[in-house]
This record gives sequence, C-alpha cells and structure tokens, in this order.
Amino acid sequence: MSAAETTTKTVAGHDRVQIFDTTLRDGEQSPGISLNTQEKVEIATQLARLGVDVIEAGFPITSPGDFEAVQAISRSVSGPVICGLARTQKGDIDAAWGAVKDAERPRIHTFISTSDIHIEHQLRTDREDVKGQARAAVAHARELCEDIEFSPMDATRADVEFTAEVCAIAIAEGAGVINIPDTVGYTTPAEYTAYLERLYELIPELHDVRLSVHCHDDLGLAVANSFAGVLAGARQVECAVNGIGERAGNCSLEEIVMLLRTRRSDHGLDTTLNTTELARTSRMVSRFTGYSVQPNKAIVGRNAFAHESGIHQDGVLKERTTFEIMDARDVGLDSNQIVLGKHSGRHALKDALEQLGFVVEGQALNQAFKSFKELADKKKQVTSLDLEAIVSDEMREASKKYELAWFDVEAGTRREPVAKVGVSTPDGGESVGEGGGDGPIDAVFSAIQAAVDTDCELNRFEVSAIGEGDDALGEVTVMLRAHGRLATGQGVSTDIIEASARAYVRALSNALEGAAIREAEAVVADAASASPFPPGP
Ligand code: KIV
Ligand code: ZN
Repeated sequence: MSAAETTTKTVAGHDRVQIFDTTLRDGEQSPGISLNTQEKVEIATQLARLGVDVIEAGFPITSPGDFEAVQAISRSVSGPVICGLARTQKGDIDAAWGAVKDAERPRIHTFISTSDIHIEHQLRTDREDVKGQARAAVAHARELCEDIEFSPMDATRADVEFTAEVCAIAIAEGAGVINIPDTVGYTTPAEYTAYLERLYELIPELHDVRLSVHCHDDLGLAVANSFAGVLAGARQVECAVNGIGERAGNCSLEEIVMLLRTRRSDHGLDTTLNTTELARTSRMVSRFTGYSVQPNKAIVGRNAFAHESGIHQDGVLKERTTFEIMDARDVGLDSNQIVLGKHSGRHALKDALEQLGFVVEGQALNQAFKSFKELADKKKQVTSLDLEAIVSDEMREASKKYELAWFDVEAGTRREPVAKVGVSTPDGGESVGEGGGDGPIDAVFSAIQAAVDTDCELNRFEVSAIGEGDDALGEVTVMLRAHGRLATGQGVSTDIIEASARAYVRALSNALEGAAIREAEAVVADAASASPFPPGP
C-alpha cells in the first residue's frame, strides 16, 4: 500500500496538522503575478480538491480587484475555511469581512508588527499603541466573525516577552488561531523551536488555541523552520504551492505536506490532504502565475522521481525503495497516461476532462473538442497532461482582453525575419501590426507591439515541452514590463512560434489590464481622499 492510500483517516485531533494555503495572498505578492478573478477561483477550486484546510484568498482592502476575487471565492468554493487578510484598521477588517462573509466558513486574519524595528520605522508608533491596536482589531473582528486569526508580524525578530503580551491580548479578545511569522526568513529551526516553547511558557492560554507557523525562505529554511514549529506544537502551517511568495517565497506546501506524510511513523503527525492532487495543483499554479518549477524541485519537479545513474536505475528496477523514499503516484506524478486518440469522440473527451477535474459543458466543450481534434491531428496520442494544458489555455483565452488572432512570419539564415500579426482587441475589433527582429520570434513580438501600439521590455522567455517525444506540445512563458507593470503570460501549441506569440499577447494584455486597474484604483483613492490601498505586508 502506498503512503497516499493510507491517507489520514486515522489522523485526528491533536495529531492533525492543518494546511493554510496562502498562494493567493502571500504567493500572489511575487513580482509579475497578475491573476484575474476567474484564475483565482480556478486555483481555489483546485486547492479545495487537494483538501487544504484554509485558503487565504487575498487582502481585500488593497484593491477592488482583490476584494472581488476574495468574494467570488467565498461564494463559490466549498470545503475549506476562506480567509481574508486585514491590518488592524477598522476599514481593513470591515473590507475583509465584506469579502468573506458569504463563505461557508469565513475567517478574518489580522496582523500588526511586534518587532521594535517595524514599530519604530514602519509603524512609527510605540509598543503601547501596538497593544491597543491589536486589542481593538481582534475585538472588532470578533464582533463580525467567529473565526479570527492574529499574527504578530516580524515576531522572530521581536522581543518574545512583548510578542507574548500582544498574543495574550489577542487570545483574550477571542482569536482562535495565533500565527507566529518569520516575516523576513531570518530564524533557524533551533531558534524558532525555542521561541515557540517560550511563548507556551509565557502564555498558558496558547494551549487552548491553535498555534500556527508562517515562514519565509530567505535563507532556504522555510520548510525546516515550519517543521520545527510543528514539532514544537503548532498545528497549522501557512504555505504556498511551489513555495511562491514575497522575495524568496513561503514554505512550499508540497514539501511540508510530503515531509509530514513520509516521516509520519516517526512523529505521528499528518495532514488530511489528498496528496495525489499535488502535482496537478503545482502545474496549475505554475501556469497561471508564470512561475515555472525548477526540474530538481522536491516533490513536483520534473526530475523529482527520475533516476539518471545506472546504479540507481538498476536498484529501482529491482526494488523501488532502494532509491525512492516516496512513490510518484502518491503525489500525482504518474498522470501522463494516454487517454485519447484521433478517433475519440466528444463523450470520451468530456469523461477524460471530468476525470481531470474540469467540468466543461456547452460552448466551452465545443471549443475544447475543436482544440482536441486539432491536436489529435498533429499528435498520435493525446495524454492527460496535453488535455490539461489545452483546457487551461482556453480558459486563459476566454479571460484576456487582447488575443492573438493570426500571424505570418518569414525567416531563415539568408533573410531578415519579418512578421505580420492580427490581434483581437477588447472592443471586438482586430488590429494588425508588422515588425522585424533577430529571429522569427523576435519579429513576431515586435509586430505584436506595433499591433497593440505599446512599447514593452522582455524580461523572461521560457520554453518547455509538455510530455515527451518530437510531437510534444510546447509551453511558453513570457514575462515583460509595459506601462510600468511586470506581467506574465503563457501559450501552448505544437508550434513554438505560435505558443510564444500567444504568451506575449497575454502578458501584454495582463500588463495593460493591470495598469488600467491601477489607474482606476488611484481615482477611487483620490476621491476618497485617503489611501485605502496599502502596500502588501
Ligand atoms: O510574512 C508575514 O509576516 C505575513 C503576515 C501578514 C502573516 O505575511
Ligand atoms: Zn508572509
């Protein structure tokens, strides 16, 4: 029996570690990520399928777009607790409540820094005021919502006695979860353990609430520190899929979950996640955010279960456990089965998509079937990975303002590359542009800039193959800067130039949309003659 099959039916009560996913909040604070509401709802739906306990869906006060996305997730995703982040200001807490109140199980997460460095230089206040703000915030939040989480930001660089005082206030006012952030990724496992143990000594009531850990990866210790926190008594880990997040990112969800699962017999702790959904969740987040997963990434990297050396291959062929501590099936990395061929019909496609978790009907099914047929004409066998890629690609197409309509390119070693493109525009029209460049892709990119009449600077360009073989689909990720916005886009096709063009138009579309939203928000903020849109924590 594999580890996943032994799932956590037996893990209950105190041995169960809850997973608080912050991909859509802390994770989304990574530069260049520009998820729209539809993409956020898709990710949240997949997180619910994975079985996370809490989804931190956003920071509603920061923008109308964030508010709308948190509200949409609260209204459509069932299962996990849906949480909104708020500073201690009343306006933040009211916005967070407004966005999560329709969720099956809403939570407000409020925070204020307890380190002197933040209190003096960022908040420009004093410790007494911090205590007062924490008290008022939790008390107000508790009037609105039953489930309140409190975080003393930058706790690991703060005086532990003062942090304990603030946390005791939050508990007295009704916080049920106390989260101890290592905001700047500075602590070490031994130090974090000692800090949490001291908090337990200083606040006996901490035993009556859920202790949570939130670690950043600046020194590469986010998973190790989170694990130390769990061993010290924490029963909630805050983490993000693929470890995305501010700067070096957050604790990687898949790593902490598989660490708990794989070494469960040693420490007796586990989560209730359906780990076979880990790889798919990782692919979805990577696609939508434009943050690719390094091949050697633990658990979900392409090589995480690959054996190159002859000795290892020989060992695994004889007995898998000679060189493998986990089974690829337990994390869903075996999902590249051949599902359909050239003659498969609409029903077979619908069934296959349903098995992959996509409910596609009506016009969307017709479009998916058309794309599938086009692909099946080019590829002998269409795998589940291919289907996942083309359906995600269509979902993105439906949500973008600009889309590639067509392109022509001429290039070779004996001629200057020239390209002509048609881009469909938000008003339903089509704009045509022409351009040249160093190669066919460069020429297509400058033709797109001409069509959209926007200058942009290419920041990142990545191509990867989906599956194996000469006829594999190519997936391209583009990150660019336009109108002061860093934005990403992806495209999928058996033709790399087409995939690149799609990715470029989508990145540009995201950048323009982001710039327009920012302008609209600035107008709203001006009108309110206040600044309701703070920079993220
Ligand atoms: O890193 C941090 O301190 C945070 C808090 C808002 C929990 O993200
Ligand atoms: Zn954080």
